[in-house]
Amino acid sequence: MPDLSIDFCGVRSPNPFWLASGPPTNTAYQIMRAFDAGWGGAVWKTIGEPIINTASRYGSIDLKNERMMGLNNIELISDRPIDVNLREIAEVKKRFPKNTVVASLMVESKRETWHDIVRRTEDAGADLLELNFGCPHGMSERGMGAAVGQVPEYATMITGWVKEVARTPVIVKLTPNVTDIAHMAAAARAGGADAVSLVNTFNSLVSVDLDTYAPRPSVGGLGSHGGYCGPAVKPIALHMVSAVAKHPKVKIPISGIGGIGNWRDAVEFILLGSTSVQVCTAAMHYGFRIVRDMIEGLENYLEDKGMSSVMELVGKSVPRIEDWGNLDLNYKIIAKIDAGKCIGCNLCYIACEDGAHQCIRVEERPRGDLRHGVDLKHVPHVLEDECVGCNLCALVCPVPDCITMVQVDTGRPHMSWKQLQEARGKSSQCSAEELLAGSTKPHH
Ligand SMILES: Cc1cc2nc3c(=O)[nH]c(=O)nc-3n(C[C@H](O)[C@H](O)[C@H](O)COP(=O)(O)O)c2cc1C
Repeated sequence: MPDLSIDFCGVRSPNPFWLASGPPTNTAYQIMRAFDAGWGGAVWKTIGEPIINTASRYGSIDLKNERMMGLNNIELISDRPIDVNLREIAEVKKRFPKNTVVASLMVESKRETWHDIVRRTEDAGADLLELNFGCPHGMSERGMGAAVGQVPEYATMITGWVKEVARTPVIVKLTPNVTDIAHMAAAARAGGADAVSLVNTFNSLVSVDLDTYAPRPSVGGLGSHGGYCGPAVKPIALHMVSAVAKHPKVKIPISGIGGIGNWRDAVEFILLGSTSVQVCTAAMHYGFRIVRDMIEGLENYLEDKGMSSVMELVGKSVPRIEDWGNLDLNYKIIAKIDAGKCIGCNLCYIACEDGAHQCIRVEERPRGDLRHGVDLKHVPHVLEDECVGCNLCALVCPVPDCITMVQVDTGRPHMSWKQLQEARGKSSQCSAEELLAGSTKPHH
């Protein structure tokens, strides 16, 4: 069996699957049940001066029959006293010494206050500290959370205060509500962060009730902006993780977060540079049991790939994220439609005709199967010379493997936009088309 255990800043975790700071990690009761279910680690619901929450707190977006594709919340940090949380951390560590307990912290931006909470948390036995510089609502208005994480100088300064006293590794949790999250990661690193975790939630207003005019979630008819997460944010989180992983001034371990719900999502985050992954919404939606499938799926995947440890996967896709200017302009693919599988819905035709490059034609052909009482179907075919290989027809096609994109050998050399600019500088008489074709003939 492949080894799922990870080394995160020198801390060993039985597997990369950690619960993210949030409602599922509010109490020792929950975290112990999560560890029993198989989670390798848990980031405690952010500890700080306890707050009072509102009812209601959550709103969500459904996608057809799938509920909670995006979840929005206006919940703040822990509403439980600091000493209760710390006592429970100690209890959990005693019962589960091998599992990773991360204490998420957020206190006032004062050096002594940070020193005090760090010392108390370490005394309780947490393996790692996570500084919550990311909460986009409520706490930021009080000068904490995203208010720190959006200003690089503050992030560097407060991380520095923490590192003055911390004996355990420090993770800085980043907010996605910035222009360049990699720049913020570099700021955390400059303050001495041992690792970064990302993303916290995205600033959002999830919906408005058309009858009452109240935003959701509503607190007595009023609402406030909140934090968005769940499957809907995964692509944005993936990009952010890859940007941080590539940044030359970061180069510290990453804990990836944002819309992870199964082992495949987790593998994507790991391939893009995450050593551990954190899950909140999916655990809120389906419970702790989802980790069993994640463990089994990851084990099978590693076995299929002939890898003995999950650590071998970390960052494998990072070198494949390139500047657009380095992509090969001579790489060509075209759409192929399997007429036998086509159901004649015409979605590909309409998408290409109205939304892309008018490269699909439709003709009527007899159906082989007359049981449905219809003897003609509209079979689209691709004008191969015109097809630009954009993928749109394959994306809209509802039939698996009916439209595939196949590579065409153009016989042309690799030519990126950057190479093209360089070549143009050297031989100004050649047109872009001639240079792409690998020809250096003078332009007529
Ligand atoms: C209701 C709710 C409460 C949250 N509370 C915290 C928190 O106290 N501290 C924190 O760092 N992140 C908090 N988060 C953010 C999550 O840890 C996580 O970063 C985010 O939800 C993205 O992951 P997901 O898509 O798996 O939910 C909270 C998220 C939700 C949905």
